[in-house]
Amino acid sequence: MDIKLIQAQIENDLAAVTSLQALEEVRIKYLGRKGLLAELTGSISGLALEQRGAFGKEVNVLKNKLLSLIEEKGKFLKKSGSVEKKENLDVGLPGIAQELGGLHPITQVINEICAIFTRMGFSVVQGPEIETEYNNFTGLNIPLEHPSRDAFDTFYLKNYPKLLLRSHTSPVQVRAMKAHQPPLAIVVPGRVYRPDAVDASHLFMFHQVEGFLVDENVKFSDLKGILELFAKSVFGQDIKMRFRPHFFPFTEPSAEVDISCIICKGSGCSVCGRKGWLEILGAGLIHPDVFKQVGYDSKKYTGFAFGMGIERIAMLKYGINDIRLFFENDLRFLKQF
Ligand code: PHE
Repeated sequence: MDIKLIQAQIENDLAAVTSLQALEEVRIKYLGRKGLLAELTGSISGLALEQRGAFGKEVNVLKNKLLSLIEEKGKFLKKSGSVEKKENLDVGLPGIAQELGGLHPITQVINEICAIFTRMGFSVVQGPEIETEYNNFTGLNIPLEHPSRDAFDTFYLKNYPKLLLRSHTSPVQVRAMKAHQPPLAIVVPGRVYRPDAVDASHLFMFHQVEGFLVDENVKFSDLKGILELFAKSVFGQDIKMRFRPHFFPFTEPSAEVDISCIICKGSGCSVCGRKGWLEILGAGLIHPDVFKQVGYDSKKYTGFAFGMGIERIAMLKYGINDIRLFFENDLRFLKQF
């Protein structure tokens, strides 16, 4: 008799079993006193001496296998209440609905911001999170001695001295300008990395949206107009904006941009540190040295650039006081968006 065939037959029989009673019938068919296994064992004495050992072993293995399969099936049937209780099926019970997933709040804010800019004619472009030192710093006119190049402020790749985890989305300016000629209007959402100690307002990874536009005759007032439209779309029509002089190596002039505090409307509260203003982004006119790096004629073209932290915008928009909430995967938090 072919042991393999018998095993296949057993597995077939077991697969068809849907009740403890049927399982017992299968058990008797194979393991009962007159069952197939008993028959096989009985046939051993009729074999040639040298065949007995091997055959006996095979029969034993089959028996053990069968015992464990039956036990497993028995457990399964008991657990699932077996189909014997079919009569108790309540067809009036409400079904089990499939829960719908949702977009992460950071993704939602990124989509909202990108939609505002695409309505104004910007294209959405992405860049790699592993960048070259050149694109992240040199191409952006950030000098070798600049503190942001320090290993305390940037993650370098251990065995690749010229590669790093981008510390901002600005390197995509260099990539896009090298790949395309003006006019250019681009927004770049994406992750950035900085070795900051984690607390309520810092993580080692966060998201930015970069924006830049290059053409003939682009003026600072174009930047102001576009950013005002952006801020009002995100935070409401009554929001006020102000530009404070600042410094970035890749823009000149540069500014930090504040909106009037959305909590106290400018009168001063704990969220804005009694200042009445909240910083939301950095911006400026693209530095002629950046144009030189990418091979643009800085006599012919001007442009502006800005960059904002998405977690910060989302925290302000929704009144969230701890950045870590975004990445703890706590559904009680995430389901609110
Ligand atoms: N890359 C700057 C930062 O991460 C923000 C910025 C972008 C400033 C573009 C000016 C122009 O802080």
